Amino acid sequence: MSQRDQDNQSQHSNEPEYNRSGFITFIFTMVFVLSFFIYLVVIHPGVDMGEKVKEVAIAAAEAPKAIDINSIKEPWIENEDVARYGEGVYKANCAMCHGEKALGDGPAGAALNPKPRNLVEGHWAVGGDSMALFKTFTNGIPGTSMPGFTQIKAADRWALVQYVRSITQNKVEDDPAKLNEFATSAK
Ligand code: HEC
Repeated sequence: MSQRDQDNQSQHSNEPEYNRSGFITFIFTMVFVLSFFIYLVVIHPGVDMGEKVKEVAIAAAEAPKAIDINSIKEPWIENEDVARYGEGVYKANCAMCHGEKALGDGPAGAALNPKPRNLVEGHWAVGGDSMALFKTFTNGIPGTSMPGFTQIKAADRWALVQYVRSITQNKVEDDPAKLNEFATSAK
């Protein structure tokens, strides 16, 4: 036998050895991967993605839509989102006098005379149409503690108008043409 034949033979005799251990490693790997897979799918409680997606969708539907009031071109035109935005402006600026639910019972209003108005009942002295409300929120009511709110930007005052009109039992009809004319000049 030549040296080369011997080399070949020893290589050949090594080959099955090498393949067997490779095969065993392969089987072990597969068993490991498979059992991990079974663990993930069957045993591990896991997160039901379907449920998760549903929860997020419900939360998004229930959360009040945050609008950018500056993107509303005509905030005096009736719009639920603007009214809802106005509720936030109301809570920050008016609730202390007129009350959380606008029943005229805010803590800062208790000692005032006349008392802050119950806006839900809505007995208007200046007026309950959009224009009159806007003027009230801008100028206040002289001779009472109702202040003017020129520091609140016009779009936010229109949102307040919409909020008050959305909660009052005494919603006074608007004349759309007059309202439009007034609002575009009052901006
Ligand atoms: C310091 C307390 C106070 C604050 C703050 C206040 N108000 Fe008033 N508001 C009053 C009082 C007092 C009156 C007058 C009640 C009356 O004349 O009988 C009044 C009257 C009103 C009226 C009745 C208008 C009408 O035609 O009769 C409206 C509407 C109103 N307020 C809305 C608001 C809104 C909206 C805000 C927040 C931007 C606000 N008020 C903030 C005290 C307040």
